[in-house]
Amino acid sequence: MSNVLIAPSVLSADFGCLAQELDKLLTADMIHLDVMDGHYVPNLSFGYPLIKRIRQLTNKPLDVHLMVTNPSDYIDRLAEIGVQWISFHQECEYHSHRLLHKIRDLGIKAGLALNPATPLNTLDSILPDLDYVLLMSVNPGFSAQKFIPGVLEKVRKLRAMIDAAGLATLIEVDGGVNSENAPSLISAGVDILVSASYIFNSEDYTKAIENLRG
Ligand code: DX5
Ligand code: ZN
Repeated sequence: MSNVLIAPSVLSADFGCLAQELDKLLTADMIHLDVMDGHYVPNLSFGYPLIKRIRQLTNKPLDVHLMVTNPSDYIDRLAEIGVQWISFHQECEYHSHRLLHKIRDLGIKAGLALNPATPLNTLDSILPDLDYVLLMSVNPGFSAQKFIPGVLEKVRKLRAMIDAAGLATLIEVDGGVNSENAPSLISAGVDILVSASYIFNSEDYTKAIENLRG
């Protein structure tokens, strides 16, 4: 079994029984929360009230993926709620260095999210300031989309960049992850796998999580 961390995304959970859904994620390493503003991405998901409730319902680290045009407006409230990880999309922030350090100064892990079309060389001057890079393997906005296979090569290249620089930056992959592509992602050097539909559409979440670990 690999050491990969599994981050179920509650976007595919049944919000009508969220407490039970979270209870069934006993073996997950963290909970991935997709915050969408209907502007940066063509979908609306959820905001502070739900994140607050999720914070009360689970002790697992919360990993907030901000798909919003103005990520800097959200950081203080998320810190107050008590989340452990925050990533935002590179295109949405003029001053990513400043924002990443603000997040880190609050004791939260800071990540940059790259869309499938965003090249890795945009990380050249910022890699040492990141706790993690979130590589999107679908276009952001919806769960249950198909994995874009070209992202595998991107993972390999990013792994090489991180290792060559002697950094401990983690690689998170998000979108269309399932038991079929997880082994190649893990051998390409992924540290965190996000999954919504594969886990929540399965009968047994524990088994689905174990399947992803390989
Ligand atoms: C997509 C979100 C993902 C999504 C993953 O914009 O960032 O986290 O919930 O869903 P699946 O695993 O179904 O592709
Ligand atoms: Zn996500």
